[in-house]
Amino acid sequence: MDRTARRAPRPTGGTIAYDPSRTALPLHLRAAAVLEAGWTGSSTVPSRSLYPHQWSWDSAFIAIGLRHLSPLRAQTELETLLAAQWADGRIPHIVFNPSVPLDAYFPSPDFWRSATAGRAAGAPRTVQTSGIVQPPVHALAAWLVHLADPGLSRARGFLTRAYPRLAAWHRYLLHRRDLGGGGLVSVVHPWEQGMDNSPCWDRPLSRVTPAPARSFRRADLDHGSPEGRPTDLDYGRYVRLAADYRDRGYADGPGDFMVEDPAFNALLITSEYALARIAHELGAAGSARRTRAERLTAALVERLWDPAAGMFLCRDVRAGELVPERGVAGLVPLLLPTLPRDLAATLVRTVCGPHFGLGGSTRLVPSYDLLGEAFDPHRYWRGPAWFNTSWLLERGLRLQGERGRADALRRGILHTAGASGFAEYVDPYTAQACGATGFGWTAALTLDLLHDRPAWDKNGVTATKGEDRL
Ligand code: SER
Repeated sequence: MDRTARRAPRPTGGTIAYDPSRTALPLHLRAAAVLEAGWTGSSTVPSRSLYPHQWSWDSAFIAIGLRHLSPLRAQTELETLLAAQWADGRIPHIVFNPSVPLDAYFPSPDFWRSATAGRAAGAPRTVQTSGIVQPPVHALAAWLVHLADPGLSRARGFLTRAYPRLAAWHRYLLHRRDLGGGGLVSVVHPWEQGMDNSPCWDRPLSRVTPAPARSFRRADLDHGSPEGRPTDLDYGRYVRLAADYRDRGYADGPGDFMVEDPAFNALLITSEYALARIAHELGAAGSARRTRAERLTAALVERLWDPAAGMFLCRDVRAGELVPERGVAGLVPLLLPTLPRDLAATLVRTVCGPHFGLGGSTRLVPSYDLLGEAFDPHRYWRGPAWFNTSWLLERGLRLQGERGRADALRRGILHTAGASGFAEYVDPYTAQACGATGFGWTAALTLDLLHDRPAWDKNGVTATKGEDRL
């Protein structure tokens, strides 16, 4: 029995089936049941149907919620992911579960061929993974997981073991992925940034010749409605980019798709601050990391801030220009403690203005500009509101002193998560559930928001008791 399990039904041997219609149960028990149902014994699936393996940034967000139920499981969640790290430092975006049939998810391990195609880059031999990455939320997650039970964490040497791996992960990103030469990290595939079919990618993706539709079979359409998923044309391009990268042995260098994304880089900076905290906890100096985080913040402002849009945009590195599309990623730098005050104030105005409608037409933050030509309230990252980005912005608003707006967003997230059966994403106007229900990070971040909100220190990564209850 897990001695650290709290506030939730304890494991009984089998999994607790999640039934979104059991709305009479308190929200935290329903959220706990989702995480219980998704637990495989060493990690948590985002969704049993649509995403039946371990995903990198999902696991980080899931660990942030799981720490309130079981700090031990939350540590294990991150340790399982870190055990699949490649020797070059990359943390793969998927760690495959060998007991799941190959045709349950595409692209499957036989597409990525990590053990062979990834050998030169140091892919692990004992586990199969994808070869691309996802946003670096992990050091932030590790620090928050540690804080949930510092005694257990110290007794298990959790941070001592995690720190070198997290440091190598950041080193990989900063040294191998600065493809634009301006200090920021580039993603080389839309799946790396995590917002797969955001309109921000349309222009850079248009240069990629799609793989023929007959050369692969999508498994996602067996579970998700086609209107809520990326198109076949998008998939053709995703497959081409991933196959080309694989065929280069996952070596990093200039390619057809190279984008500097504000959310990916802001999360790296937030995680650098968390690594500074972790270093300090382990008795080392963290000041070099804080200095680097400040330098990266300055680079982010210099390379991605667009005064006319009133927010950060993506930089298409290949074309050498900003992409003129407003995606939710451009608001995530609200998380950064040394963001100039006038930029933070402008970002708050933008999130509450007509393009994102927070506090007006929307209760959660849409993934894309409500007024944008490509806006679609139901299609994955082309408009729907997602819970992880709203959680990040709740945190960002709180950090910037916008307590009233953060409180309102928190209430919106909790209400919508419960009413939608912990949906993967929702229509930003009506909150209608879209995609999978019983979705891992939606449940986990609900649990996190149900707990005391942190009283922020100046780096935005300390969680101490606060009075901010539901
Ligand atoms: N989000 C992708 C998918 O839909 C993979 O990371 O499968």
